[in-house]
Amino acid sequence: MGGQRYDGKVAWITGGANGFGAGVARRLSGLGASVVLSDIDVDNGEKVAAEVGGTFVRCDVTSYDDNTAAVRSVLDAHGRLDIAFLNAGIATGVGIGVDFDLARYRLAMGVNLDGVVFGMQAALGAMKERSGEIVATASLAGLTSVPFDPFYGANKHGVVGLVRAVGAAYAQQGIHVNAICPGFADTNIVSAEAREALASIGVPLLNVDRVVDAFVAAIESGEGGQCWYIQPGRDIEPFRFRNVPGPRDDSGARVSDTAGDVQQTLVERGAH
Ligand SMILES: NC(=O)c1ccc[n+]([C@@H]2O[C@H](COP(=O)([O-])OP(=O)(O)OC[C@H]3O[C@@H](n4cnc5c(N)ncnc54)[C@H](O)[C@@H]3O)[C@@H](O)[C@H]2O)c1
Repeated sequence: MGGQRYDGKVAWITGGANGFGAGVARRLSGLGASVVLSDIDVDNGEKVAAEVGGTFVRCDVTSYDDNTAAVRSVLDAHGRLDIAFLNAGIATGVGIGVDFDLARYRLAMGVNLDGVVFGMQAALGAMKERSGEIVATASLAGLTSVPFDPFYGANKHGVVGLVRAVGAAYAQQGIHVNAICPGFADTNIVSAEAREALASIGVPLLNVDRVVDAFVAAIESGEGGQCWYIQPGRDIEPFRFRNVPGPRDDSGARVSDTAGDVQQTLVERGAH
């Protein structure tokens, strides 16, 4: 894994000041890419950018305009964008029912879902008529039920749904859109209480390097619309979704095998 070089390629990374974003910045720059980091953590963003010989552009991913401006500055500086890692994210910290908090709900959806949508919109515009790799950081929380943080589960499922929808269409144009879905990893986002609870049942935290390996596997896969899950001690691979059974007509006769076949018909007919 990671045998490929990225000399001459340009990567834009959101949430690049810490954790996975900084890890991917280090790996890609080590493999020859030019890296542009974005974050709201300016101090660490500038530090990582200096370390990897890249640049830092402040971008609050909840802002459509910030995303557009960040990608424009990548194009102004480098004339191209080859890789976009849409990775900024936060934990929600509130639930539904007793401890709902509108501002925190909006912020969590704004960073974790709007941030990916806006980043993807900006990156796809910059990659028009050329190949490109877009990877969004979802989570295992986008593949499983997350009772301890329902909005995190909702926005990460949103990212998974977005990537699966966009991935197939853009792969035909040479732009691969994938997601990585890490389990709990050793970064700032995992609270002390969560670390303690996981340790008490013997669940190890992933190290950042394993997640970076998954990122590299995704961009070197030549596929789109895949959601690569990462669990300690297991191989890194795309999650295989079970097909939803297809509809029957009024008489109970089979119409199509899977719901996916129906979606495919809508794509082929250009329906929205
Ligand atoms: N660490 C884990 O256990 C884990 C597991 C699965 C998924 N994830 C996801 O991985 C991604 C990266 O998180 P991490 O684990 O590296 O944590 P991290 O806290 O180290 O990094 C997240 C980065 O996002 C930045 N950020 C937050 N709000 C932002 C905004 N509005 N605009 C721009 N940047 C913003 C932060 O400043 C930080 O640098 C997130 O999307 C997170 O949800 C983390």
